[in-house]
Amino acid sequence: MKVTIFGMGYVGSVTAACLADRGHEVTGIDSDSGKVLLVNSGQSPIMEPGLEEILQSAVAAGRLRAETKAKTLGDISLVCVGTPSNDNGSLDLGQVLRVCEDLGNMLKTTDSYHVANIRSTVTPGTVEGQIIPLLERVSGKQAGKDFGVCMNPEFLRESTAVRDFYKPPFTVVGALDTQSANVVAGLYDGVDAPLERVPLRVAEMIKYACNSFHALKVVFANEIGNLCKALGVDSWQVMEIFCKDNKLNLSPYYMKPGFAFGGSCLPKDVRAIVHLAKQLDVELPVLGSVLASNQLQIERAYHLIRRTGKTKVGVLGLSFKAESDDLRESPNVALIERLIGKGYQVSVYDSDVTLSSIRGKNKAFIERTLPHISSLMKSSLAEVTGQAEVLVLCKKSKEFEAAASADGQLPVVDFVRLFPNGATRTAGYEGICW
Ligand SMILES: NC(=O)c1ccc[n+]([C@@H]2O[C@H](COP(=O)([O-])OP(=O)(O)OC[C@H]3O[C@@H](n4cnc5c(N)ncnc54)[C@H](O)[C@@H]3O)[C@@H](O)[C@H]2O)c1
Repeated sequence: MKVTIFGMGYVGSVTAACLADRGHEVTGIDSDSGKVLLVNSGQSPIMEPGLEEILQSAVAAGRLRAETKAKTLGDISLVCVGTPSNDNGSLDLGQVLRVCEDLGNMLKTTDSYHVANIRSTVTPGTVEGQIIPLLERVSGKQAGKDFGVCMNPEFLRESTAVRDFYKPPFTVVGALDTQSANVVAGLYDGVDAPLERVPLRVAEMIKYACNSFHALKVVFANEIGNLCKALGVDSWQVMEIFCKDNKLNLSPYYMKPGFAFGGSCLPKDVRAIVHLAKQLDVELPVLGSVLASNQLQIERAYHLIRRTGKTKVGVLGLSFKAESDDLRESPNVALIERLIGKGYQVSVYDSDVTLSSIRGKNKAFIERTLPHISSLMKSSLAEVTGQAEVLVLCKKSKEFEAAASADGQLPVVDFVRLFPNGATRTAGYEGICW
């Protein structure tokens, strides 16, 4: 393909050299004439292991050259300019919007179908809210019809960027239309990575979810490390073994947006470790705010129910997770407590919980927290749907599907994403965080 790459910085120069190496015909554009001179003389404008070799051979083979201004558009443009922070933390989109203005002007006189592919990191909604309107206004053409627009975030890491280009975790293509997505997918033909075709905003958000998680991982490891040091424990040994758990620790487990955590271990153990750190004068700002964040999720759930305007609430699921009858610190119990305190009429159904069979600490907890639980518990789903005005899904169960489906009569507030693809109806359905 004929590829124009705007920005010959860390992302642009690696992308340009690697795409040229794969046989594409690449023009790199950078307003910095120093970088343009370097590229054209086969030298890397940045320090990046392995880059200079492929850049040099791409320039020598005539597949890569650089200019300070784009003159014509080929098949696809990749926008790789910087998106630095403003003082208030917002993104400075100046470089991206300036390039898109140039692109819009060139699109005016381009007859073939050209795809503007955004690789710079931009916050969700930027492509649809600012970039497409700008391209359409300047070009006088329609996105998705006269030209294509994609959001194709970059996942390379500086210092291993060339290797990452050839073997990224995935290739994400957010697109307005299939034709543009096909062009971008074609660009990475042969790159060893799963291709994820998604809506534009999902593509924008994936990048932020990834980087936020990476940042969180570093801070988490450091907080554990700081506490370990104060305790005289070898943090590296702890984290090395921690990382061997691919079942719960480094795995998709617990990574599904939904309701608060609970049960007999997580709240208790987070409380204990935060208390221990306080005694040792070790600050744990992230771990120390975990329980507050969890509590806010219960508040959020309550407000979603309140906003339905219904006062008779059917709660489906009481114990802290499916196939368990443990009620201790179940967020479902905390939610019911809140609803009752606010005067709601609550009925509850959970096939995992038989009040007459629960014992010990479990029994003591529920009797202390919800003394009238036996009058709220129903023995069948039908009893709950018979008296409720809104259903709250706190557990995944096949049994709940008919009530929550498109044919269901009652409004539904869903904490568990009962249907993997989200709602099967638009009216009367609310997911807690989707
Ligand atoms: N650095 C990384 O490892 C990395 C990884 C993934 C994503 N990103 C994202 O990719 C984007 C680019 O990051 P970077 O680190 O490569 O930035 P950078 O600052 O290194 O490079 C940006 C380049 O764009 C050029 N430029 C600015 N305005 C221009 C214009 N109007 N026309 C042509 N060129 C122009 C600049 O001269 C500069 O060379 C950012 O949004 C960043 O968040 C960066």
